[in-house]
Amino acid sequence: MTSTPPGSTPLHVLRLIGSPRGADSESLRLSQQVIEGLAAQAGGRAINLLDYDLNQLAHVDAPYALALGSATASSNGQDGDALCRSDALIDALDAADVLLIATPMHNYTVPSALKAWIDHVVRVRVTFTPTPQGKVGVLRDRPVYVAISSGGLISGESARQPDFLRPYLRVALGTVGLHDLQFFTVEGTARGEDALEEARALAGRAITAFFSLG
Ligand SMILES: Cc1cc2nc3c(=O)[nH]c(=O)nc-3n(C[C@H](O)[C@H](O)[C@H](O)COP(=O)(O)O)c2cc1C
Repeated sequence: MTSTPPGSTPLHVLRLIGSPRGADSESLRLSQQVIEGLAAQAGGRAINLLDYDLNQLAHVDAPYALALGSATASSNGQDGDALCRSDALIDALDAADVLLIATPMHNYTVPSALKAWIDHVVRVRVTFTPTPQGKVGVLRDRPVYVAISSGGLISGESARQPDFLRPYLRVALGTVGLHDLQFFTVEGTARGEDALEEARALAGRAITAFFSLG
């Protein structure tokens, strides 16, 4: 996005796109503002953005389930399509300095496309280790920004629905070692144009404050 000063390496941002709505997606729009915040925070350092559209991702398959379901079996990318995809997705995550997730709420939680990604990367003996005390993440912690859009409200006293999305992501990503999560939301996208503009402005102010852009 910007030219890199000599001697500085670009900031690698992996953006996962969970909405099926393409360029019309509200969560994608919100994530773009997060990228602007990151760019400002990075100063002259270039942002290397890698977009991954989760809607292209297949679900895990039988060899994958077999490999992960056995207490002893070791698995590798030779064993099946989903294992190959899993290896590649974990490598891409591992290479990122920052993970950015653009996601709508679907039925109180993550859309199935994002759940499919989670099923590929939360992988026993690869990204977490089972111990008697519980699962221990293997990946290096790094900032994770989550840009969420929801038709109704999910925060505050006016919310009339449960939010399993944020708590679930905290646990799922925490399992692999990612604990540094920051959520931004545009809530009430189904409540009319005025409410949407208000929600966008609120989210914009939250991003500005977080990245100290004001
Ligand atoms: C299958 C489906 C399920 C949805 N479930 C919820 C829900 O549980 N709560 C909610 O507030 N909005 C729900 N919505 C509305 C979306 O969260 C809302 O339209 C959001 O702004 C879409 O973001 P996007 O433009 O990034 O796809 C749902 C939409 C779809 C298509």
